[in-house]
Amino acid sequence: MLFILGELFVLFQCFQGSQTSPVPIVMWHGIGDTCCNPHFLGRIKKVIEEEIDGVYVHSISIGDGFARDAQNSYIIPPNKQIEIACEQLRKDEKLKNGYHGLGFSQGGLFLRGLAERCPTPPMKTLVTLGSQHQGIYGLPKCPGDKRYCDYFRRVLNFAYSNWAQRILAPAGYWHDPLDEPTYKKKSKFLADINNEVFINQKYRTNILRLQKLVLVKFNNDTTVQPKDSSWFGFYKPGTLNIQRLNESSLWFEDRIGLRQMGNRLLLLAKNGDHLQFTEEWLITNIVRPFFK
Ligand SMILES: *[C@@H]1O[C@H](CO)[C@@H](O)[C@H](O)[C@H]1NC(C)=O
Ligand SMILES: *[C@@H]1O[C@H](CO)[C@@H](O)[C@H](O)[C@H]1NC(C)=O
Repeated sequence: MLFILGELFVLFQCFQGSQTSPVPIVMWHGIGDTCCNPHFLGRIKKVIEEEIDGVYVHSISIGDGFARDAQNSYIIPPNKQIEIACEQLRKDEKLKNGYHGLGFSQGGLFLRGLAERCPTPPMKTLVTLGSQHQGIYGLPKCPGDKRYCDYFRRVLNFAYSNWAQRILAPAGYWHDPLDEPTYKKKSKFLADINNEVFINQKYRTNILRLQKLVLVKFNNDTTVQPKDSSWFGFYKPGTLNIQRLNESSLWFEDRIGLRQMGNRLLLLAKNGDHLQFTEEWLITNIVRPFFK
């Protein structure tokens, strides 16, 4: 009798197992892109749906329509975009038990900010692809001559002006390593989510709620300057020499909990330029190990 009950229990569990639907996935596109571009995120949504039977994928759009969504990715400041996305996810009934996040470039940075500020519905695992977690200092694909690049960097410090912080999304993650005090004082987004000025315990707690945080860096990235930013590396304050996450105060003071995460923080490297990957790479290295 016990044996039969045991069998029934196993059967019941199998039945239950097949009934629980897979964890939904929320994607956030990069700058100038859209939620549903059939050649990129639209295509990726399909590929994920083919790989995980019955999965629900929500691709964040800021504003209605492709053109507005793409434009808004430039001109709505990150804090506002995250507020809009938070509201959008809260209203989506299908996400109420939680979801995994998949962010592309700027969208990955914003999803990390969202995880810190918007814990309901809960994000489970977050994967970011080529995201600027320590910001940027430089223009994408700055042409060879170093003098021009340095010149542009100085000019671009207008990013800290109040108007730029209000009307340009990337100004929210402009990070001048040669003038850290101004960055900390003026950056309305990045300095805040990185707990640079003071430690917001809520952000730390929420990061530590993640099951996993997976950061993908593109080894030959010419868009994110420096590419190390995808792994929370950056220029050492006051210099233009790269400092790794585990050499920074963000790590030693564990300002946002990355150190405490232990082996739930994963750093992955991929050869190739910014966001250069195949569907096969995405399925094998991201979807199967982290979302399935
Ligand atoms: C990309 O970067 C990797 C690691 O730094 C390097 O080994 C590889 O040669 C680079 N590939 C190209 C095409 O530059
Ligand atoms: C920091 O992490 C890198 C891997 O990203 C590792 O090779 C290095 O040994 C670490 N350094 C310290 C000081 O722990």
